[in-house]
Amino acid sequence: MPRIISGIQSSGVLHIGNYFGMIQPAIALQAEGEAFYFIANYHALTSVRDPNVLRENSRRVALDFLACGFDPDRGALFMQTDVPQVTELAWILSTVAPMGLLERAHSYKDKLAHGMTASAGLFTYPVLMAADILIYDSDIVPVGKDQKQHIEITRDLAVKMNETFGQIFKLPEPRIRAATETVPGVDGQKMSKSYGNTIDIFGDEKETRKRVMSIVTDSKPVDEPKDPATSTIFQLFSLVGSKDEIAVMGERFRKGGAGYGDFKKQLFEKLWEYFSPMRKRREEILADKLYVDNVLVRGAGRANEVANDVMTRVRAAVGL
Ligand code: ADP
Ligand code: TRP
Repeated sequence: MPRIISGIQSSGVLHIGNYFGMIQPAIALQAEGEAFYFIANYHALTSVRDPNVLRENSRRVALDFLACGFDPDRGALFMQTDVPQVTELAWILSTVAPMGLLERAHSYKDKLAHGMTASAGLFTYPVLMAADILIYDSDIVPVGKDQKQHIEITRDLAVKMNETFGQIFKLPEPRIRAATETVPGVDGQKMSKSYGNTIDIFGDEKETRKRVMSIVTDSKPVDEPKDPATSTIFQLFSLVGSKDEIAVMGERFRKGGAGYGDFKKQLFEKLWEYFSPMRKRREEILADKLYVDNVLVRGAGRANEVANDVMTRVRAAVGL
């Protein structure tokens, strides 16, 4: 049975870009193998500096992931920090990681371009991510497109280790869902918590409506035909509407006679309805105070079993 692994940083609140780009495909993949999904709180430390915020976000990401449909009986959900051996493996990998490989990482350059301070942790972020993946003998890694290069770096590091020390690691494959590889935010750029353009999965009704109504459009008047292909409203609607509903909206765009305000209202209604079963599930989980903790303890137990085996192999291979 293939092992499927993915992580999500607890650096903020989950948004619908995270949902369609990673959470939903990852949850669907549970049917194909043994899923190991974790809350990447070591990684989140590269951007969050308030301990209470980090703790709270980490719990909330676990809760939200479960509310989105993760089945803890068919896989493990755990905190990255509950398998601290990944930091040991990250160190070992860093001793073979070529500087040039890390210097080419887009994500690092992007983060600096968006005003983050260059730290050693931010620079070696992909090495810790490689450790996360390799320590579970992973086969498949479902992520959004922006993480593709990190999986390539992981494969490069695995090959380098295998060439240097003999066959230690499996080579993981990324799984990127083409249809939702980049979900746009309210400003039309990639939706990202660091760009302040998100629509949250579990935002309250008023806030969610406000976010949808703030989607940036061109200034075409009501009567004029509009191009659905270039519209953020239409792209987001395509994620939540039925095939027929999407076709009807596309037609109304092209015909003219309806304004963007109308389309936004329709998008809000559909979005709100789409996430309604997950909101309900979230309330049920919240009512059981120990549910999330129990899932995380169980998940960490399973993850540690695999990680300990792999680390025994790694230490022996490198001479530690
Ligand atoms: P953010 O950009 O908001 O900080 P993360 O980097 O924490 O999001 O991403 C978590 C997961 O969600 C990753 O697998 C990432 O590829 C995916 N993801 C994030 N934003 C989007 C988006 N706008 N479209 C598709 N996938 C996304
Ligand atoms: N870097 C990923 C992100 O920002 C999160 C992550 C950490 C991850 N470790 C991972 C994803 C291992 C997949 C596999 O979204």
